[in-house]
Amino acid sequence: MIYSRITGTGGYLPDKVLTNHDLEKLVDTSDQWIRERTGISKRHVAEEGQYTVDLAEHAARRALEAAGRDPQDVDLIIVATTTPDRIFPSTACLLQKRLDRHGCAAFDIQAVCTGFVYALAVADKFIRTGAAKCALVVGAETLSRVLDWKDRTTCVLFGDGAGAVIVESSDEPGILSTHLHADGAYESLLTVAGGVGQGYDSLANGNGYVTMKGNEVFKVAVNTLGRIVDETLEANNLEKSDIDWLIPHQANIRIIQATAKKLRMSMDRVVVTVGEHGNTSSASVPLALDVAVRDGRIKRGEMLLMEAFGGGFTWGSILLKF
Ligand code: ACO
Repeated sequence: MIYSRITGTGGYLPDKVLTNHDLEKLVDTSDQWIRERTGISKRHVAEEGQYTVDLAEHAARRALEAAGRDPQDVDLIIVATTTPDRIFPSTACLLQKRLDRHGCAAFDIQAVCTGFVYALAVADKFIRTGAAKCALVVGAETLSRVLDWKDRTTCVLFGDGAGAVIVESSDEPGILSTHLHADGAYESLLTVAGGVGQGYDSLANGNGYVTMKGNEVFKVAVNTLGRIVDETLEANNLEKSDIDWLIPHQANIRIIQATAKKLRMSMDRVVVTVGEHGNTSSASVPLALDVAVRDGRIKRGEMLLMEAFGGGFTWGSILLKF
């Protein structure tokens, strides 16, 4: 039986930091409101001229180094992003060029904040079927570019960054199961309403920026993430106590706490980076994974549950032995 196994992780955050106090100067908000409602105290933001592929490249090179791999070893590149640098080619192709890797399959996946979970699930299928042996999977975003910096209901929530993993075929697990879902009926609750398919004019009048009915998204997110935890445990015949680490999407500390409670998991077994990173969309899960691997909390052989929820709505989970 072929499994896929994460052999290296990497992350990258732009140098520029925006604190809640910085945001107090831009919109009618307060450090206290942002901390109490979201748990966020700061976020990183790409500099002018720094693009999604730049963040992706840093994270990818760090993951390759951690895995002891060279770009030439990689036979599949998947980039999850909602903020591609170009309409085409894909960010994955731009990254492939940066890595000087020619010829292997490279494509983007768009599932907003669930993007990395979708991308890793797809890479897992490629590896299990023998179609790939060494995949580079990246979540990279410059969400700051699609935020209306005058809208306090959204601009305080998001940040930029990239996270990456190298996934390789192995006789030992590895990824144990992946669970992906979507329900487009909720498209209007969290959206950037404009898009090139509607013509460039559709991006005018605020339609090129994120809008969100935060309260409604919050309720669906909490319920949905609770359900996917149950689905994942049942599919693997596991008890809640079998999970060593929860690596959740980092949107809001209150959503993370609700999921941990559902798992009867103490918060010191949950990787939390939302305070320092904000919501980095598809980069949030791999960034959190990388932080906890590098600081030594997550160890080889431990059972990890990753979960995410995002625009679409999309949601998903990955259970793996690290
Ligand atoms: N500062 C101060 N006040 C604010 C701010 C702000 N930044 N933003 C909103 N408010 C005000 C509102 O105007 C409202 O005022 P009112 O009562 O006078 O009308 C009040 O605060 C309460 O607003 P709510 O929206 O009810 O606040 P809530 O407690 O729901 O928190 C939040 C808002 C943080 C957005 C929360 O709903 C949330 O986290 N939602 C889920 C986000 C999420 O998970 N997204 C999914 C992934 S993102 C992706 O896929 C791209």
